[in-house]
Formats: sequence, structure tokens, C-alpha cells
Amino acid sequence: MHADLAPILVIGILVALAAFTALTLLVRRDLAPAGSWGGVLDGGGRWFLGAALGLGVIAFSIKLAILATLANFPAQTIAPLIAPRAQVAEDFDAPPPPNPPPSSTPTWRGLPALVPTPVDNPGNAAKLALGRRLFHDTKLSQDGSLSCASCHDVSKGAGHDGRVTAQGINGQIGSRNTPTVYNAAYQARLFWDGRAASLEEQALGPILNPLEMGLASLDLMEQRLAADPTYPPAFAAAFGSAAISANRVAQALATFERSLVTNDSPYDRFVAGDERALSPGQQRGMWLFQDLGCATCHSGPNFSGASLVGPKNPFAVLRTSRLSADQRGTLAADKGRGAPSSAEGVWRVPSLRNVALTAPYFHNGSVASLDQAVRIMAQAQLGAKVEGHGHEDLWWSAEQSRLGRYVGKTLSPRDVDDLVSFLQSLTSDTLARRAAL
Ligand code: HEC
Ligand code: HEC
Repeated sequence: MHADLAPILVIGILVALAAFTALTLLVRRDLAPAGSWGGVLDGGGRWFLGAALGLGVIAFSIKLAILATLANFPAQTIAPLIAPRAQVAEDFDAPPPPNPPPSSTPTWRGLPALVPTPVDNPGNAAKLALGRRLFHDTKLSQDGSLSCASCHDVSKGAGHDGRVTAQGINGQIGSRNTPTVYNAAYQARLFWDGRAASLEEQALGPILNPLEMGLASLDLMEQRLAADPTYPPAFAAAFGSAAISANRVAQALATFERSLVTNDSPYDRFVAGDERALSPGQQRGMWLFQDLGCATCHSGPNFSGASLVGPKNPFAVLRTSRLSADQRGTLAADKGRGAPSSAEGVWRVPSLRNVALTAPYFHNGSVASLDQAVRIMAQAQLGAKVEGHGHEDLWWSAEQSRLGRYVGKTLSPRDVDDLVSFLQSLTSDTLARRAAL
């Protein structure tokens, strides 16, 4: 039953009960011995009066019910019955609504205001402050030379180090480029190969990694932190007790990282309704990003199918065989999460937020410019032909002894420029201002 009809039903039942009671009383009086009412009512007179009173009570009750309905429940009962007609009349001259977008078209959105947070690690101000302190503390590296912030610069940089690959303790060079920690909070998969599933799981990795902070053990970390008299109270404020554990260190670091989010880019202002936030070239780039299929992998508001928000498409083969030898460079050497014997690597789809600030590109940082990264993506991932790169229609992979032809679209130099300027619109105003200083 429609919920709005409930009050009418209640009133109806009350009315029926009242009428029934009145009639019962009258009938009882009717059957009472003659003369018990002083002899005033007797014979047909009593019947007549009983019926008249009974009907009167019923009619009055119905009137009351209608009045009560009109007075108390117009919104629930009457309005919906009348409103649709009024609406139609009013909207008669309004323009028709726009066509609904086809389901394959992505919806463009900003990041959700609430950062996804695991239930077993709720954030609080003290935990965030502790995490910030740990993130900047060089005690977490074996020789006391590096903190997380040494590689993920969050005060002047965009959460990265600008190097081709990371430099750990003793000047050791790693094999992978340092990704930004900004908006990592929205990622369901972390690291280039996506081997960690949460910030908590990720946080202790670099501390023990011999090529990064190289700490001998997590016990050593706990001892070092406990030896600093200011840490136990900070852990007590964050967790309710002063115990220091690796698990808590990871939770505090993750809580701090959940505060490193950027949603103040021209793109964000554009999707929030400011149509002038993107230049015509950037809007064209946005169209190409959608039309060519970049958005099928770099999907959702964090521009990554490996995100906690938006459509899921976390991993992709990097189709290096479609690239010329000079473009491919060393990109095919590391296979990521793919089998070491495979011809092409498999990687997590990275987020493209702030990508214009985080050169060089790809898992090994081997590509210096965003322009070049976009050309590589269009050719490798979409099989598109990019003009002005000295390429014919064919690609030849010596490793795989395969010959192929580009079947996708052909991108003009202007298309590449517009795609690059669209990617530049994903740069946070705050980080851009900081980078310009
Ligand atoms: C020596 C430089 C270096 C240090 C120090 C370092 N990192 Fe990293 N970080 C990297 C590199 C390189 C990667 C990528 C590694 C990979 O994908 O295999 C990475 C990846 C990450 C990621 C994943 C980002 C993403 O989008 O996948 C997070 C989060 C992160 N580091 C946080 C930290 C924290 C927290 C610390 C301190 C405990 C830390 N890092 C210390 C270099 C460093
Ligand atoms: C089939 C999935 C897929 C498609 C389609 C795709 N990408 Fe990517 N993209 C990836 C993966 C996976 C990586 C990481 C590869 C690596 O690091 O080796 C990546 C990396 C990138 C990077 C480098 C990010 C960084 O931080 O280094 C840029 C820029 C990029 N893509 C832009 C684009 C553009 C523009 C398009 C459309 C022309 C596109 N991508 C289409 C999967 C895809």
C-alpha cells in the first residue's frame, strides 16, 4: 500500500469504531425495558431516533475524517495527486532534456570529498600528526640519512623526487621511478606493479627495502622510536596507549598519506561547473582522452582503473612490441607483475593526477617528457598511429618476430598537444604554485 494513504486508513478505522459504538449504545437503549428512560421514548419513536442519531454520528465522523485529512496531510495525500498535472502545464514550453549519454561514455567527476579509510584504522588529528612526523623522520633508515620525504617531497615537490629512478641509502640506485604519494589514498593497488593493496600494507616496504631505507629489522625501528622520549606520548595520543609497534607506525603513516589529496585542479573546477576552467584545447584533449580510449584504463576521478573510486581496470599489458626500438628503449626490460619470461610487462594503471609535475615517466622513468609519454601510450596501448614520429603504418617487433599494422586512429601533432594540455589540467593549483617557487 502507498505510505501516504496510512493516515486516511487510521482515521477511517477510528470513525468506524465511533459509529459502531454509537449504534451499539442506541441498540442497548432500544432493548432496555420501557419506562427506564422516563417513558419519553417508546415504540417507533425510539427506533426512529436511534437510526437518525446513528446515521448522524456516521455522517459527522466522515466529515471530520475528510476535514482532518485536508488540514493535516495535504502534502502526503493531495499534493502528489495534483502536482504531476501542474508540472506538465508549467514545463510545456521548456526545452526538452538533453539526450542521455550512451552508457559507454565515461562520467567525468571530481574526487569524493571523503577519502576511503579502512575501518580498523580510523583517522584522528593526533594520528595524522604522528604520521607526518614519522614520514619526515630519518630514524626509519638504517644510516639515518633518509626519510620517506627524501624521496617523496611533500613540502616543495609533488610527492616525488624528480629522479629517473630512486636513490636509496649509500647512494644506491633502484630500478623504479618514485611515484607521487599525492592521491595514493584513492588507490586500491600501490606500487608500479600493484603488489600492495593498501597504504598500511605498503608503508613498511621501503623501510626494510635494502635499496631504499635499508633498515635491518622492524624490531630495530621500534627500539629506535621507543628510545626517543617524545614518541611514546605521541603514540598514546594517537592510539590510546603508548605501545610502539610496526603495525602502528604503518597505520600512522597511512593516516598522514590520506591527508595528501589534491582536488583543486582546473579539471576539478571544470567538472564542478566552471566551464571556463579548461581552455578549448584542453576540452578537445579531454574529448580525445575519452574518444581514443585512454579513459578505459585511466578511468574514474583519480584517472586510474586501480583506484578505490570509479570503474575497475587495475592492470594492463604495456604493449612495447608496438613501439619502435628507440621509443621502446628499456621499457620492455622489467616485466612488472608479468612472468619474467614474457615478452611484455604487466603494470598497474597509474593515476594521471599531477602527472605534468612528476616527470620523468613510466615505471623506470626512462621517458623524459609528457609529450613523449602520450605518444608512447597512444601507439602502444591503443594501436594508434602518431604522425610526425617518422613512422610508417607498420610496426615490427624483433623480440617477438611479429609484424603489425596500426589499426587505430591517426593522431596529429595537434591531437598530441591537446592531450598533453588536458593532462596539464589535472595539476593541483596548490602543487603548481609550490613548484613555481
Ligand atoms: C629511496 C627512495 C624512497 C624512500 C625513502 C621511500 N620511497 Fe616510497 N617509493 C619509492 C619508489 C621507487 C616507489 C615505487 C616502487 C615500486 O613500485 O616498486 C615508491 C612507492 C611508494 C608508494 C606507492 C605509490 C603508488 O602510487 O603506488 C607509497 C604510498 C610510498 N612509496 C610511500 C612511502 C613511505 C610511507 C615511505 C617511508 C616509510 C617511503 N615511501 C619511502 C621510493 C622511496
Ligand atoms: C590499456 C590500458 C591503457 C590505456 C588505453 C592507456 N594507458 Fe596510459 N598507462 C597504462 C599503464 C599500465 C601505464 C604504466 C606503464 C608503465 O609504467 O610502464 C600507463 C602510464 C601512462 C602515463 C605515465 C604515467 C607516469 O606517471 O609515469 C601517461 C602520461 C599515460 N599513461 C597517459 C595515457 C594517455 C594519454 C592515454 C591515451 C592516449 C593512455 N595513457 C592510454 C595503461 C593505459
